[in-house]
Amino acid sequence: ANAAAFLVAFGLMSVSVLLPAAGSGERLGRGPKAFVEVGGKALLEYALEAFAWADEVLVALPPGHALPPRPGVRFLEGGKTRQQSVWRLLQAATADVVLVHDVARPFVVRAALERLLKAVAETGAATLAVPVPDTLVEDRDGAYGAVIPRERHRLVQTPQGFRRELLMEAHLEALREGRDFSDDAQMVLALGHPVALVEGDRRMFKLTYPEDLDLAEGLARAWNC
Ligand code: CTP
Ligand code: MG
Repeated sequence: ANAAAFLVAFGLMSVSVLLPAAGSGERLGRGPKAFVEVGGKALLEYALEAFAWADEVLVALPPGHALPPRPGVRFLEGGKTRQQSVWRLLQAATADVVLVHDVARPFVVRAALERLLKAVAETGAATLAVPVPDTLVEDRDGAYGAVIPRERHRLVQTPQGFRRELLMEAHLEALREGRDFSDDAQMVLALGHPVALVEGDRRMFKLTYPEDLDLAEGLARAWNC
């Protein structure tokens, strides 16, 4: 990646990248997603390459999985939920800023990453998000329900970036309250700290369902970011 751009965006701030990769990939149905291959390469490998510029990279692996050592990368055992996996990584992180990125999103668009880093430097908490392209509707037991104004909603992506101490506080508060959140931005917001929405990129979609593998294979062939 373009290290110079990050240094410009970031001044002297150090960055820890946290990669929750401990999920079991239930919906995809191909075993733990981190090891699923797209374009002949494991999803985890995409993330390790995309964030090779970071000061440190911490990876939460599914229990019972080990990988050969790799410079600049620490492998830890993940937890039962995404939040627990991130919490383990966060406790081991040391940089000023942490970026949390789902390994299930192999296509990291550099321009979006740079927009995010800039916002994190300015505000302390930011996430990528994209507009909702389709009509968004409530499902009333299989029947078409109330339409939700899509202009006022966004689909949340990762990476999400935070001052490390802010995210620590948010996780500690969630632990105290026994709450489990699906992403880190919610936790920071629950603390009362605003989280900036930064324009993401639809290519940074999360491989979730089997048909997403076809989309990813196609994109892998054209990938050039
Ligand atoms: N994740 C994790 N630890 C968990 C659960 C999820 O580190 N206990 C990670 C996944 O590896 C993934 C990200 O969180 O990179 C987003 O989760 P998701 O897309 O839901 O992946 P899975 O939980 O593996 O998939 P599923 O929910 O279909 O089982
Ligand atoms: Mg999951």
